[in-house]
Amino acid sequence: MSYDISALRKFVSPEIVFGAGSRKAVANFASNFGARHVFLVSDPGVEKAGWVAEIVDILVSAGIRVTLFTGVSPNPKVDEVMAGAELYRSNECDVIVAIGGGSPMDCAKGIGIVSAHGRSILEFEGVDTVTSPSPPMILIPTTAGTSADVSQFAIISDPDRRFKFSIISKAVVPDVALIDPEVTETMDAYLTACTGVDALVHAIEAYVSTGSGPLTDTNALEAIRLINRNLEPLVRNTADAHLREQVMLASMQAGLAFSNAILGAVHAMSHSLGGFLDLPHGLCNALLLEHVVAYNYTAAEDRFRRVAEAMDIDTRGMSKPVIKHRLMERIIALKGAVGLEAKLAKLGVTTSDIPYLSGFALQDPCILTNPRKSSRRDVEVVYAEAL
Ligand SMILES: [Fe+2]
Repeated sequence: MSYDISALRKFVSPEIVFGAGSRKAVANFASNFGARHVFLVSDPGVEKAGWVAEIVDILVSAGIRVTLFTGVSPNPKVDEVMAGAELYRSNECDVIVAIGGGSPMDCAKGIGIVSAHGRSILEFEGVDTVTSPSPPMILIPTTAGTSADVSQFAIISDPDRRFKFSIISKAVVPDVALIDPEVTETMDAYLTACTGVDALVHAIEAYVSTGSGPLTDTNALEAIRLINRNLEPLVRNTADAHLREQVMLASMQAGLAFSNAILGAVHAMSHSLGGFLDLPHGLCNALLLEHVVAYNYTAAEDRFRRVAEAMDIDTRGMSKPVIKHRLMERIIALKGAVGLEAKLAKLGVTTSDIPYLSGFALQDPCILTNPRKSSRRDVEVVYAEAL
């Protein structure tokens, strides 16, 4: 009997431990995987904040050796992944732990793939290219936004092509995500805003994606609702533990939604931008968001109405154009309230860069699940509007 695979929906998730202090379970989980020598991936900022030393202490106290790899840059590069994998191999490590934002977590995922296959990370670009399981992996996110700790995505920068490529595979979902709102205490207001808007974009893109469905919709809508209500007050008062927890919960739900429903044109276009200019991912998304929503609106009007309602807009009695207008207004107001108002031109993008950026955006797998089919010309026009 035949069946239409495009109509089926799946849901993949790591084992998740959510709540203040969950990071402290890292040694228990590592021990459960039989860890004798953990490879710990992080970046200089997280190390400086003291979180790396704490994780090392917890692991060493449990009798587990640790090799540190903390040189990961923002937007992790191919050569960093390859250097990490070589260190993992030569030190005979057996479990990978990463603590940090999207960059250390994506780098750790890349190191896992290279360790399992013994080949360049460049060979794993695309969907379902990973054939061997990675070593056991425990991820501890320190930002509430990227959700690499729950997702099937790893994004790696290839400086030779000035391009960020996506690896999308069940094999890069970690075994365990220890999601601990306490570790986001050290994020400043700007990083809180960038990563929080990234999570909002994840939720909106997942909800209107052609891969959306009942398994992801509730997570996506709840994430939109939580970010809409809690991100602005959190950016004003980053010390508020309750708000941190709410935005972390939103980020996790947005992550579960987009990992399984995939994303859309905002991410395709922002991956291209981030690879070209090495810019923060959340900022790239924020600058593109309302322009892509405007482009996509007519292709998913009912879905965008639900997005507007999740953003506390009472749509009863409103015509479709009015709902669109109010939704755009709310998105722009939220971005402004958290301090993300720049235009692409301010970041150094020029009109002459647009054809190059558009070419790479059209090669990104996220473009395939955008609710409206996008030609090269369409993508060029949206970039031009965000300039
Ligand atoms: Fe993102």
